[in-house]
Amino acid sequence: MNPRKKAAVAASIFIALLTPIAFTQAQQGSPVIPNLAGFPDPGGVVRTFSQNGDIDLTGPFFQSLGTNGRSCATCHQPGDAMSVSAAHIQKRFDQSQGLEPIFRTNDGSNCDHNIDISTLSGRAAAFSLLRTRGLIRVSIDVPATRDFDIVSVANPYGCNELSTASLYRRPLPGANLRFLTAVMWDGRESSSQSGTTPIGTENYPQSLIDDLLHQALDATLGHAQGAQPGPTPAQQQSIVNLEMSLYTAQAEDYAAGSLGAQGANGGPQSISQEAFFIGRNDPVGLDPTNPVPLHFNTKIFDIFDAWQNASSSDRQAIARGQAIFNSKTFTITGVAGLNGATFSNGVTGPDTIVSTCGICHDSPNAGNHSVSAPLDIGVADVPGGNNALDTAYLPTFLICLKASPSTCVRTTDPGRAMITGKYADVGKFKGPILRGLAARAPYFHNGSAQTLEQVVDFYDARFHIGFTAQEKSDLAAFLKAL
Ligand code: HEC
Ligand code: HEC
Repeated sequence: MNPRKKAAVAASIFIALLTPIAFTQAQQGSPVIPNLAGFPDPGGVVRTFSQNGDIDLTGPFFQSLGTNGRSCATCHQPGDAMSVSAAHIQKRFDQSQGLEPIFRTNDGSNCDHNIDISTLSGRAAAFSLLRTRGLIRVSIDVPATRDFDIVSVANPYGCNELSTASLYRRPLPGANLRFLTAVMWDGRESSSQSGTTPIGTENYPQSLIDDLLHQALDATLGHAQGAQPGPTPAQQQSIVNLEMSLYTAQAEDYAAGSLGAQGANGGPQSISQEAFFIGRNDPVGLDPTNPVPLHFNTKIFDIFDAWQNASSSDRQAIARGQAIFNSKTFTITGVAGLNGATFSNGVTGPDTIVSTCGICHDSPNAGNHSVSAPLDIGVADVPGGNNALDTAYLPTFLICLKASPSTCVRTTDPGRAMITGKYADVGKFKGPILRGLAARAPYFHNGSAQTLEQVVDFYDARFHIGFTAQEKSDLAAFLKAL
């Protein structure tokens, strides 16, 4: 048997032994998910490590605290890297005929009015974005103070309101949260405009904790349709204590085997040990050890260093993918929030920056942006724009400057602009944490990349990188192993 097959067989035996136990326990509501329980995903096995030992399934995170039967775990599942994969949502739809609590019309369906969910086919249609892209409808009122108007909306599902935008977003993982510099894709739970606290060097980690407490309240009132005043402070605290204790990551790879073998440091326990402070390794100089603008250590990930000369070709491919992430340079232009932007320390980003994936994913071994920096890389663009992937299933918004009504932009999601009220922030989103990816497809805020290969294709087209087929497959193998 060749080594690749051997590893795959070993992994499948391992999964067959382990996961039914974990799943049964989760489903039958017995008290705990054992710490580090493994769950199969398309790349291998994902595990979640809790610093407080076994995960107590009776805690508020797993309780229905609202009125529609949902808990946090409805959309943040340990088997899906504390997010939820579209493939598992489809499975849940098939098993429950579209009746279990994730399938609620307040935000699970494409729109919340003029829909018929009395039949199975009606539910399949109403929940199509949730089933196929894992998208939740986030509705946000147009901010009172703003320099733009939403002039028109073309929403294929009927949610065409001009004063409240229907935005379609992927659940972010409820784990590895210590690395966050903004809560939510648009940072709205870390924003003075929403009465929450921007996360900075001076107030971290208390700002993060406060934002997560507020997020737990909002999620209960919104997703779970909770009655006022929502969860008690003790329940919110317990939810945040759980979230902050959890680290999730890919732990086994079908081809490469254990991601912690032969000196590698993959898996959730090693990421739980990673140092972090706001601005760590950030090029704009907030990191005091790294004060030179646009000079930073591009070596973001080092967990697979030991596999450079591994005997297994699959392990070598992951190490090569890591090297591509760390060192392959390309030209970054036209990214609002980076090129031409003025940062808090007065530095202005050049119009053209030759750099690596890590310039925006600079937090070592976590891969998120180590400062709060909403960026428009084009993921929210309408078809024909900077997202070469399919975004035709999304609504389009025509947004114009109030002071200059002929200055307009079309987008599928105004992003950060819905929080700040600034036209300049249309299409900006945070650089998210890059761990546990294999367990939570699809990717980007709008699920426009169905696979990690498609993520790589997006970047190849967006920044004219010119990856070879080998480089693409190595980079995808690496992302799968995170
Ligand atoms: C119906 C699905 C759903 C439920 C239920 C739900 N969430 Fe979420 N969660 C989401 C979505 C979607 C996002 C991203 C939304 C956005 O950024 O606009 C999210 C984002 C988050 C984030 C932000 C992570 C980050 O990287 O910024 C946290 C934390 C979180 N949820 C925790 C919770 C908690 C705690 C509960 C229970 C009180 C909960 N969620 C219930 C769907 C859900
Ligand atoms: C100019 C900044 C920038 C660069 C360069 C960049 N990214 Fe990103 N990345 C982002 C932002 C911002 C997002 C979130 C975009 C969104 O969903 O709208 C993101 C999202 C992602 C995601 C999706 C994560 C998820 O949870 O869905 C992956 C994977 C990713 N990037 C990998 C890479 C790789 C690999 C490279 C290099 C080829 C790279 N990025 C280069 C800014 C950047």
